[in-house]
Amino acid sequence: DRQRRLVVVSNRVGPLNDEGKAGGLAVGLSDALKRRGGLWFGWSGDISEEGTFSAEHTEVQDHVAMTTIDMNQEDIDGFYYGYANRSLWPLLHYRLDLAHFDRQSDRVYRSVNQRFASRLAPMLAEDDLVWVHDYHFFYLGSELRQCGYEGRLGFFLHIPFCPPEIFTALPASHDIVRAMLAYDVVGFQTETDRRNFVAFCIRELGGEKLDGRRVRVGDRTVLAQTFPIGIDAHGYSRFATSPEAGEHEEMLRDLAGDRLQIVGVDRMDYSKGLVERFRGFERLLEDYPENRGNVQFLQVAPLSRSELGAYVDLRRELEELAGHINGRFATLDWTPIQIMTRGFTRRALAGIYRAARVCLVTPLRDGMNLVAKEFVAAQAADDPGVLVLSRFAGARAELSDALIVNPYSTDDIARALQRALTMSFDERSHRWEHMREAVFAGTAAHWCDDFLASLESFDPVTPETD
Ligand code: G6P
Repeated sequence: DRQRRLVVVSNRVGPLNDEGKAGGLAVGLSDALKRRGGLWFGWSGDISEEGTFSAEHTEVQDHVAMTTIDMNQEDIDGFYYGYANRSLWPLLHYRLDLAHFDRQSDRVYRSVNQRFASRLAPMLAEDDLVWVHDYHFFYLGSELRQCGYEGRLGFFLHIPFCPPEIFTALPASHDIVRAMLAYDVVGFQTETDRRNFVAFCIRELGGEKLDGRRVRVGDRTVLAQTFPIGIDAHGYSRFATSPEAGEHEEMLRDLAGDRLQIVGVDRMDYSKGLVERFRGFERLLEDYPENRGNVQFLQVAPLSRSELGAYVDLRRELEELAGHINGRFATLDWTPIQIMTRGFTRRALAGIYRAARVCLVTPLRDGMNLVAKEFVAAQAADDPGVLVLSRFAGARAELSDALIVNPYSTDDIARALQRALTMSFDERSHRWEHMREAVFAGTAAHWCDDFLASLESFDPVTPETD
């Protein structure tokens, strides 16, 4: 029978190619959508006076129609910077200390969700599979229902879902979770996130757990399920052997000479544990002095959301800390740490990963973290690098053969780094082989197929058998 059309909604749309900056959402979704085709609806990235009333713009590429509308300045301030990134982002990453709440951004957030729903509704057919993504659009599904849409609606949260003890600090926490119940399937990266959501439904909304993965609140029954996102592992390993990757690998290897290369690649975001990571590197040089002059650490940290105070502060702190570490340990012919805020293409990054002996992925909290998976996919069998991975990254569930660290512990990071730098070839290979299997098994294509299969087959009244 005919495949139903896939309609994806997310704040950022594209890129489908290797250009532009890519967070985890863009990487996973573009890999999945390119295979299946469909409509991808969201924000154009442009600010105009007409905002969400602007004419829609469509670009077709690889069977994917990318249709976007603008936002106006007030929308960007209230919806994107205000509510999504000053209220929801810190809160869902367990950072109540950084979360701000105000009724103006709450109002704008809801109205942008409503506007996107009313622009999308006329483009939909009842047998489409509508799949909404991430914390920008919690209300979109319930707004689509208000517009009369009765087809299948799924939602996937790319970032963590914090425990109810934290989430209830959000003045609209009940409204948001109730709105999530308008979807048929609600997907999470990990079991922890799913459990937190279900706990909220039960304790705060008086819901109940049915058999399998179904949750009922009042007259709504949804499937709450984990779907760990992945990458296009084959495609990415091809990136790693591309000429562009090769040039970057060679350049970095030449510059490193006999020194072992440590790398980190993260958007400059306080959830990534960068300050703690830099301190861990400093502790390595303190406690294991044999590394002085023999290792170098490159941190690539493209700027993100840099209009927000917390991001400005983080940048300053990291630059100071890097300066402090270099000032303390550098010699005439050695600079221990280098931080770069420019971005690289994914091909170039694949080359950088291949040149590295160690990759540090040490977020304080992360939905999945696809850098960890890309690092693994980029390695060559004759010299596989070691992954040092935070216990608080979603990827930890699948990549248990990484060196797992507590990212808050300076000593733990230093010890793991030392262990990685001195690891035998056999152990490196062995760990990498296992991680490689996991990365090739849990691809973006799988993630997409699993989610859509659940969305298509979910029946709220029939008990699940799993
Ligand atoms: C994370 C979020 C995405 C977001 C990306 C980049 O991966 O889950 O929704 O697009 O960060 O952040 P930005 O604010 O630049 O879209």
